[in-house]
Amino acid sequence: MDGRDVRAVPVDDKMTVPIKKVGVIGSGQMGNGIAHVTALAGFDVVLNDISADRLKSAMATINGNLSRQVVKKIITEDARKQALGKIVPAETIEGLADCDLVIETAVEREETKRKIFHDVCAVLKPEAIVASDTSSISITRLAASTDRPERFIGIHFMNPVPLMELVELIRGIATDDETFDTAKEFVTRLGKQIAVSEDFPAFIVNRILLPMINEAIYTLYEGVGNVEAIDAAMKLGAHHPMGPLELADFIGLDTCLSIMQVLHEGLADSKYRPCPLLVKYVEAGWLGRKTQRGFYDYRGDKPVPTR
Ligand SMILES: NC(=O)c1ccc[n+]([C@@H]2O[C@H](COP(=O)([O-])OP(=O)(O)OC[C@H]3O[C@@H](n4cnc5c(N)ncnc54)[C@H](O)[C@@H]3O)[C@@H](O)[C@H]2O)c1
Repeated sequence: MDGRDVRAVPVDDKMTVPIKKVGVIGSGQMGNGIAHVTALAGFDVVLNDISADRLKSAMATINGNLSRQVVKKIITEDARKQALGKIVPAETIEGLADCDLVIETAVEREETKRKIFHDVCAVLKPEAIVASDTSSISITRLAASTDRPERFIGIHFMNPVPLMELVELIRGIATDDETFDTAKEFVTRLGKQIAVSEDFPAFIVNRILLPMINEAIYTLYEGVGNVEAIDAAMKLGAHHPMGPLELADFIGLDTCLSIMQVLHEGLADSKYRPCPLLVKYVEAGWLGRKTQRGFYDYRGDKPVPTR
């Protein structure tokens, strides 16, 4: 396949609400992926994080991932350079002031997200659209904490963003048609497919995926199988590309726990109770790949099960 060029699609016309500049708040594994695909689709990107170190390593990660796409001939070297040139790091929220769309993808904690929306709405123009990449938190409730519930929407990307085809779109109760249509057009320009989900805890993908991962952790906790057996069982016995414990480490165990808590509280059903072993790993700060330890230890040449 020939490499794709970054400016193949004009970005500022034919959209219901014209989007030229996109702000991304949080430069962790999701933030850097969203900045990557957004810049590659030709949009200007401002990438924000409270941590200057995270911001620096996000820029290095994006460069590394774009370079890998060049080697695989998915994009051209010119597209890599142009995409990288479109991403501006910003250490303060004021750097997002002239964005047409802002996508929040900071930690999965409702107070943190509310504070971010409060601060960013104060600097944005009134017509700018605000979106959250939350994995599980109510879009209606997050929207209600802003000055623009009708211009607020859930745009839920999958990890790793440059590779995964799907994006879930979630309307809050007040989200207007213009915002929904613009989000649809934006996601389509990124080359992703859309699944529309109603605004219920954890939406579609995580409503199904996370209870499966939590059950795998119970299977480990109750001694039914060890880490290797559980992952091998689901890879070879159910043709899952990754085992559930490997996948939990990839998602981040803090994020997995937050999603289970949202399901448990939001649906008030004991079948969603988070496994105590998941809680213990999070309390230990063993959050998976991002901290080098979770159900596997990633500090050596190859991952070694921690139980
Ligand atoms: N990990 C996944 O598989 C996945 C998939 C889809 C959606 N999400 C959602 O994306 C969001 C981020 O997840 P992640 O896996 O990238 O987490 P992460 O821990 O890799 O990154 C979170 C980033 O947010 C930054 N941050 C924290 N508070 C901030 C603030 N006030 N302002 C700006 N930046 C701030 C942190 O410094 C960190 O860099 C969560 O809401 C999560 O539920 C995660």
